[in-house]
Amino acid sequence: MTGPGTGTVATIADLGVVPVVTFTDPALAEPVFEALCSGGLPVVEVTLRAPGAIDVVGRLVDAFPDAIVGAGTVLSVEDATAVMDNGARFVVSPLTDPAVMATCLRRGVPVVPGACTPTEVHKATEAGAELVKFFPAEPMGGRRFLQAVAGPLPAARFVPTGGLNAGNLAGYAALPNVAACGGSWMVPSSALAERRYGDVSKLAAEALAIVAQARGRG
Ligand code: 3PG
Repeated sequence: MTGPGTGTVATIADLGVVPVVTFTDPALAEPVFEALCSGGLPVVEVTLRAPGAIDVVGRLVDAFPDAIVGAGTVLSVEDATAVMDNGARFVVSPLTDPAVMATCLRRGVPVVPGACTPTEVHKATEAGAELVKFFPAEPMGGRRFLQAVAGPLPAARFVPTGGLNAGNLAGYAALPNVAACGGSWMVPSSALAERRYGDVSKLAAEALAIVAQARGRG
C-alpha cells in the first residue's frame, strides 16, 4: 500500500521519540521544528490545543515535506479530517474514538489512539491501531503497566506519553512493547519564550541518545 501513512509508523519506531508541541505562538513553528530536526528528530506531534494549530500542521508539512508532521489532541472527526486535509502524516488522540480511527484509517493515515486500561488497549488494537498512546503514562502506572500488559496483550505497541522526561525515558525505551516515547519535555515553554532554539536541539539529541542506549545501540 502507498499513501500518506507509508513508512510513517516504521520511521516513528526507528526514531523512538515523538516531541509533543503546543504552539501557543504559531510563528515559532518553523524555527522550533527546524531545531528539533537539527537535533536529529524530524518528527513532531502538533497538539490542537492552541488557536491556529490546524494551520500550523499545514505550514510545517509544506515547509518540511520529508519530515513526519502529525497532529495531536484530535478529538473529533472534523479535526481529524482537517489535519489530514492539511497533510498530517499521523493523528494522535488522548482517547480511543472509533469514528476518528475509522476516518484516519480509511485515508491510510496512521492513527495513534489513547488508552490506559487493558480493555481500551484491546479496543484500540482491534480497531486497527498499529501504535497505541499509553496516556497519561506516569499517573496510570508508568512502565509497570506496560510490563504487565505485554503478556496478555502481545499485539499492542505503545507510545507512552504523559510525564516522560530525560530522567525516566530510558526505562520506557528499553521495554520491548514500546515503539516510541512521546512528550513535551524537549520543547520547554521557557525555551520557546526566550527563543532558545539551541536548547531544543540539545534536548532532542539527548533524547535520541538515551533511547539508543536503552535499546542497546548507544
Ligand atoms: C500530550 O499532549 O500528549 C501530553 O500532554 C504530553 O504530556 P507531557 O507534557 O507530560 O509530556
